[in-house]
Amino acid sequence: MDDAQLKDAVVALMRENRRQKDSHIYTLPSPQTYPYQWFWDSCFHAIILSHFDIEIAKEEMISLTIRQFENGMIPHMIYWERNHDAEHDEFNVAWGKDGTSTLIQPPMLAYAVWHIYQRDQDVAFLERMYSPLFHFYRYLLNERDPYGKHLIGIINPDESGEDNSSRFDSALDLPPVHTIYENHKRRLALVEENRVCNFDAPFCMKNFFWVKDVPFNAITVENLRAVSRIAAKLNRGDDAAYFNEQADLVRSAMRSHMLENGVYWSTRGEQFEKIKVLTWATLAPLFARIPTHEEARALVQEHLQNEKEFNTPFGIPTVAANDLSFDPQGFWRGPVWIAVNWFVFNGLLNYGFTEEADKVYLDSRRLLEKSGFREQFHPFTGDGYGAKQFTWGALVLDMMERQKQHVHLTPKQQMELQN
Ligand code: GLC
Repeated sequence: MDDAQLKDAVVALMRENRRQKDSHIYTLPSPQTYPYQWFWDSCFHAIILSHFDIEIAKEEMISLTIRQFENGMIPHMIYWERNHDAEHDEFNVAWGKDGTSTLIQPPMLAYAVWHIYQRDQDVAFLERMYSPLFHFYRYLLNERDPYGKHLIGIINPDESGEDNSSRFDSALDLPPVHTIYENHKRRLALVEENRVCNFDAPFCMKNFFWVKDVPFNAITVENLRAVSRIAAKLNRGDDAAYFNEQADLVRSAMRSHMLENGVYWSTRGEQFEKIKVLTWATLAPLFARIPTHEEARALVQEHLQNEKEFNTPFGIPTVAANDLSFDPQGFWRGPVWIAVNWFVFNGLLNYGFTEEADKVYLDSRRLLEKSGFREQFHPFTGDGYGAKQFTWGALVLDMMERQKQHVHLTPKQQMELQN
């Protein structure tokens, strides 16, 4: 597949998965397996669509915010049309709200909005999005960090976007090896608990599950910076300063509480107990420039390029290949996911590691060539698993475009380009 064929395949996939309900336009992550709108998927979609259908990208972002709760939370699923045969219908019954979930997902919204803006400088779109953005990030900072510790808590593994990741086993009281049913049962029980708590995260749900997750917080930092840039464009100086300061505070807290001997660990409880299960999470801080340059180099050399951990024949497994819980076919417990590649790719470019970024990009393309737009891939064989016609593979188009743009720039020039 050459570049033009890749783009054609992406355009066809995104158009096939597009749906409209009344005036609301959105894209299904996979028509068969995921027939609803999902939060971080929609942000990925907007990033992809901005390369060829920019007005649709904007519509998808607007649809995502339509069901924002009064407290600012944006639910991670919207059931525009019910599908009783779909796997997620049982969750739908449990959520306790009509037509939406009651959880969040990694807050990629501001990043996606800023990404769109960079392509066409449409200030009216930023104006349209600013109120939902402001209230959503204020919700995270207030309700998910009630004591001002500057780390955002999640109340269910699903909020990380990595539903079954081994990082959450101990918090779910599960051993490193267990069945997908046991895992599902615990997460569903938390959904029910949340309903009983009347969706009160800081007062009630905090007692059942409260993990400060590394990728979630790294993504928060990068997104708070994006809200700050958006506020600055809209001449809201106080907001711009506030969100930037909050980003700095989360970055420092991640360094104080999560970092140990060069590795970032998610934490639990008031004492920030580190959950020492090695997953790709330790690479996620690169996405938000949390490590120093030297630390970033060490993360790359000692972990990304380590064949026992994250350097498998088909790229970056979600869990280190030498971790007890590693399962090359387990949901979020080993397989390669293209969105993870995308985060690491961008993280590597942040530090000017262009050759390493190139490898992640080419590995991702190799997976598409071999197995098509599948949800997950076996790290040793490249075989595809899970959902079909899955949109995340289309992020390769964004990598391709960034690659063209950035390949010859220094890190300083890249930073300038983003601001
Ligand atoms: C799975 C993934 C989640 C994603 C959803 C829709 O639940 O774990 O991250 O948002 O599918 O693609």
